[in-house]
Amino acid sequence: MPNSKFAFIFSLIFAFALAQMDDHHASHMNHEQHRVNVAVYYESLCPDSRKFFTQQLYPSLQGNLSNFVNLTLVPYGKTKMNFVTNEYEFECHHGPKECEGNKIQACALKLIDGGRKTEGIGFNKVTVGFINCLMDKTERKGNDATFPVKDCAEINHVNNLNIIENCAGHTDGSNYLANLGALTKAVADPLASVPTIVFNQNFKSEDNTLAQTNFVKALCQYIQGTKPSDCNGASNIKISLGFLVVVSFIAKLFN
Ligand SMILES: *[C@@H]1O[C@H](CO)[C@@H](O)[C@H](O)[C@H]1NC(C)=O
Ligand SMILES: *[C@@H]1O[C@H](CO)[C@@H](O)[C@H](O)[C@H]1NC(C)=O
Repeated sequence: MPNSKFAFIFSLIFAFALAQMDDHHASHMNHEQHRVNVAVYYESLCPDSRKFFTQQLYPSLQGNLSNFVNLTLVPYGKTKMNFVTNEYEFECHHGPKECEGNKIQACALKLIDGGRKTEGIGFNKVTVGFINCLMDKTERKGNDATFPVKDCAEINHVNNLNIIENCAGHTDGSNYLANLGALTKAVADPLASVPTIVFNQNFKSEDNTLAQTNFVKALCQYIQGTKPSDCNGASNIKISLGFLVVVSFIAKLFN
């Protein structure tokens, strides 16, 4: 019957529109009070950190979930520090080059847009893009490494690379890294594993483990109220399909 075909298509469109409306509503809620605090403790040359950053954290935060987090990046990990004759000295997990990488990131976090977050989202887009690029593209040979700072700055429109590099090579970089050390020690001294992911300032081993392979799932547990569609595409589809069945059934009754 052409009529029931029409009803079917109509209900399909209707169910789809309803799902879209849900998303639309959620995106216009005020999330500032409800953001999930996500802190990532990691190292610039650590293979597991690089994998987590480039395969979990960064891709997960490209869409709607960026509105639901308040991200804190802490590139320090298992670094050790000493204050010797008015200066910090660091010993990094993967050698001195890693200290350099950690300082570049510490300076980027402070100096890009003055450390401010991008309007409406829970981190600075330029900074996180720049750091993701470094985590992705740095070539490491043993304890040696080449950080592609120029390329990464260009790709991500970092316009103050000179200042960042200057910071990383001097006292400011050391001080910023020392601050990150203090944040890390507050979680565990030393960290049991790198990277460590902490939600809402409360380290939970099971969340940390889950986040390594399914960051979205670990994060979504903490999102209050209507969750964005990125959280459970699967269950949203289920709702729409269930709705669709009901609508087409009703449509049939009127046929
Ligand atoms: C998700 O993002 C898309 C496109 O960026 C937007 O149209 C939609 O309203 C967002 N949904 C939520 C729940 O934030
Ligand atoms: C975001 O996290 C920072 C600490 O990194 C904190 O000072 C700030 O209050 C948090 N903002 C929100 C909205 O939770």
